[in-house]
Amino acid sequence: MDTRPIGVFDSGLGGLTAVRVLRRILPEENLVYFGDTARVPYGGRSRETLLKYARQDLRFLRSFELKAVLIACGTVSTTSLDVLQGENNLPIVGVVEPTCRRCLAVTKSRRVGMIATLASVRSGAYEAALRRLDPSVEVFCQPCPLFVPLVENGRFRPGDVVIETVAREYLTPLLEWGADTLILGCTHYPLLEEVIASVCGPGVALVSAGEESAFELKRLLTAQGLRAPSEKRGKAEFYVSDRAEDFEGVASLFLQEDIHHMARRIDIDQY
Ligand code: DGL
Repeated sequence: MDTRPIGVFDSGLGGLTAVRVLRRILPEENLVYFGDTARVPYGGRSRETLLKYARQDLRFLRSFELKAVLIACGTVSTTSLDVLQGENNLPIVGVVEPTCRRCLAVTKSRRVGMIATLASVRSGAYEAALRRLDPSVEVFCQPCPLFVPLVENGRFRPGDVVIETVAREYLTPLLEWGADTLILGCTHYPLLEEVIASVCGPGVALVSAGEESAFELKRLLTAQGLRAPSEKRGKAEFYVSDRAEDFEGVASLFLQEDIHHMARRIDIDQY
């Protein structure tokens, strides 16, 4: 039994897709979340910059005595996971492997679409993991650089003409190619799930990176005897690197949990 918190981080709101699942499947666990809202989006940045940001994010989180870390960011997972695992002596879970395993359990045609940030698509990490797990799979990767800024600005609701137009433009080539399964390879994208599902239609199954990594973390904690006792609900703390109020509004909506006045701003440059 281990009551130390789990650290979770992302460039902004996206990692909350993993937090939402963690709160459901591991309600007794304490969580510390960091969203790097001063530097979001990460998706168009170079590997060097991403590694620098990710190291700082992790250094801040490790100012708490953590038992494990979930990198709830596709962009950091695809570009920096190995380095961060090598540098830190605690279990670190990324989103790529668990998502690809789930996707291969779902696809019937073995024609898989993957949408993510530019940095994730450039890294080739999802493609490589899918092919390693099943060499017969065909993969179509599509970067969607406008999705994250739109989500961070609250433009993710069905009926919003801007997000619907952008989604149709990004997704049409994948649909014409004939994907039967679509990996939402960036943890911001489940906030667009309704919009994406309505463009794709019922013939395309959606697999969310944030969700699958939460299940992977649960397996790991159980296997290593690191679970918290189940008597009481764990607490979640939220930290951001820019205006906490902006984060709290959308985060409360998305988590279906009122976190107003609960997020705190920190200076990430100090880490
Ligand atoms: N949510 C992140 C991801 O999964 C980062 C997106 C971004 O900041 O561009 O890739």
